[in-house]
Amino acid sequence: MEKIIIHGGRRLKGEVAISGAKNAALPLLFATLLTGGRHCLDNVPALRDIHTAEQLLTTLGASVERHGSRFEVEASHLNHVEAPYDLVRTMRASVLVLGPLLARLGHARVSLPGGCAIGARPINLHLKGLEAMGARIELSHGYVEARARRLRGARIYFDLPTVGGTENLMMAASLARGTTVLENAACEPEIVDLAQALTRMGARIEGAGSDRIVIEGVDELHPLQYSVMPDRIEAGTFMVAAAMTRGDIRLRGARPGDMEALISKLREAGAEVTVLDDGLRVQGNRHIRPVNIKTLPHPGFPTDMQAQFMALMALAEGTSVITESVFENRFMHVCELQRLGADIAIEGSTATVKGSRGLVGAPVMATDLRASACLVLAGLAAENTTEVARIYHLDRGYERIEEKFRQLGASIERVKA
Ligand code: EPZ
Repeated sequence: MEKIIIHGGRRLKGEVAISGAKNAALPLLFATLLTGGRHCLDNVPALRDIHTAEQLLTTLGASVERHGSRFEVEASHLNHVEAPYDLVRTMRASVLVLGPLLARLGHARVSLPGGCAIGARPINLHLKGLEAMGARIELSHGYVEARARRLRGARIYFDLPTVGGTENLMMAASLARGTTVLENAACEPEIVDLAQALTRMGARIEGAGSDRIVIEGVDELHPLQYSVMPDRIEAGTFMVAAAMTRGDIRLRGARPGDMEALISKLREAGAEVTVLDDGLRVQGNRHIRPVNIKTLPHPGFPTDMQAQFMALMALAEGTSVITESVFENRFMHVCELQRLGADIAIEGSTATVKGSRGLVGAPVMATDLRASACLVLAGLAAENTTEVARIYHLDRGYERIEEKFRQLGASIERVKA
């Protein structure tokens, strides 16, 4: 086990390069299952979740070569259709192999992911959509067994805009017979990235980025050649770091268009956000204003930035109200923030944060990916020393985060616990 030790109170200044987006790279890697041949994916971040995805591709019979951030995948000879429990429970995004395997081979056997720290996170909408496309779905012994001679186009209405469900069905529909319409689809930028990559593979997709996506199935796709979009949540995390430490950070490669809600809320909180030709610049303000947020599907305020923004509000001059509307249990970071002196009260899906000037360092424990980022941010702004334990959560979604923060002037190091 490792932990991160932070001596807080330093203003962060300088430039940081934003890595490829975890939540775009994962579906893109599984899209290689849709056809044989040699796929090439650039700007893939070096993360635990990406390593898990690589293991899963190999388990299914694909071969994966990594050259820095370039992944080359050869998926001509898939000889398994099962995503095993030990991989799926490590990374629930493994369920994204369902659509591609069903579309390519007509068979998939995927472990149900089970719940996680932030919620039950069922995949009922994925399965309902695949059934509408003609798949026969059986649930037994904690596994989903799906079969289909050939998927057929269908009109599918999502009860709620599920990101993974939209991705799974968009990949499945790419090789189905006929037209599929996804209504109330998710609009996240990662969906657009996947649709652009699939289109380059020969898929016919209209409307990605809106809540209605139309996919005209084709008989065959050709190999993927694509570069992953920048990670808007990693970028957002560094933007909040600048705001929390009265810092001045340039984020090279960040895409402002993906982060309008966050940029608007950071400006409301008093930070200065400047759009640059190659990214963004964020300058923190001595006075942090309280701001209310409610997490929503894109283009609303992203749930993956809720914990990080709460750390900022813990330093605000006043009270803010934070409502989490996407996941049912995404306040695990609150009791850890309280150990650092934050004044936060939870009532159902709403947290009331009474800001104060001073967080004081203490030992804290990460519980999930974005909660661990929140605790690192709080430690960077707190007086004295903060130790964050169980940082394997952090490594799932951030590439070399302590190195990047150290380059910005933070006193931060990773040690063996
Ligand atoms: C993706 O998860 C992201 N993960 C999450 O990021 C992100 O928080 C989430 O989208 C929302 O933006 C990846 O892209 C790998 P959903 P996903 O399906 O697809 C419910 C991070 O920190 N739901 O949009 O699993 C579900 O329970 C991670 O990087 C159903 O009820 O999210 C949740 O309440 C965390 N039935 C809501 O919808 C379903 O069939 C949103 O889930 C599917 C989802």
